[in-house]
Amino acid sequence: MRRFYQESWQGIPFTTFAYTHFFHLADAKFYAVFYEELFRRFQNWNDLPEAWRANKRKDARWLAKRLERIRTAKKEGEPVRVLSIGCGVGYMERVLLEEIPEGMDLYLNEPSTVGMKWMRRLIPGSRIFIGEPPDCLSPDIHYDVIYLSAVDYCIPQQQFDRMLTQLRHMLLPGGEIICLSASLLVEQSKVAGFVNFMKNCIRCLLHYSGIRRQQFWGWRRTREEYRDTFRRSDLKHIEDGHLDDGFSTYWIRGE
Ligand SMILES: C[S@@+](CC[C@H](N)C(=O)[O-])C[C@H]1O[C@@H](n2cnc3c(N)ncnc32)[C@H](O)[C@@H]1O
Repeated sequence: MRRFYQESWQGIPFTTFAYTHFFHLADAKFYAVFYEELFRRFQNWNDLPEAWRANKRKDARWLAKRLERIRTAKKEGEPVRVLSIGCGVGYMERVLLEEIPEGMDLYLNEPSTVGMKWMRRLIPGSRIFIGEPPDCLSPDIHYDVIYLSAVDYCIPQQQFDRMLTQLRHMLLPGGEIICLSASLLVEQSKVAGFVNFMKNCIRCLLHYSGIRRQQFWGWRRTREEYRDTFRRSDLKHIEDGHLDDGFSTYWIRGE
């Protein structure tokens, strides 16, 4: 695992709305204030950067194909039940609803209610879980697919292990957990680790001297670390690969 830092997201510099921390992960409050700022600048999904939307659209369509396959294997009229962990402003979920207008019960999760501003128009409140999963989820609802898209990076390893283990118990028979990662760590040699450490020392100096303030944004994980995490959570039939979405997004799934 390797720490990474960020100065802005969706073109919004963090220093314009929050105090940035070099050693503390962005918490639910940070994301909430970020989304408030985002909604001040953007009126709807179509205002978000085109390259970002194109990437997420492709990822959502890949997911939709998997969901369609699951739905066709179900009994006539039985919907496919899906939960998105950390759905953000819900752009991928909006695309999913366009791709599968019928026969899908979509549930959402976000740590704070702020990011749900646009999605509340499309999803009833009873299908939105606000808080940290798994604690905020209903123990009575089980899913065919639970997915996390670009969320794991901001979850510490122990919490990620616990979350996947608990989410596995919320799957319907044959159900799957899918993790899409926009932060795969491709190489973790000793030399690369040392170079990265030196870079972080320089980043730290620039941060505390006020020249270039950075926010500790999360962790990059290697493919092996993802696979180990899935194994530790007792997920079976693990498969992984890369999406042809322009960013070669890494995906991993298990049952
Ligand atoms: C980069 S955004 C990804 C949003 C969306 N899934 C996507 O692919 O566009 C990461 C999201 O994860 C949420 N998040 C952070 N910590 C979380 C946690 N412990 N559990 C669930 N979501 C979390 C953040 O609030 C943020 O909306």
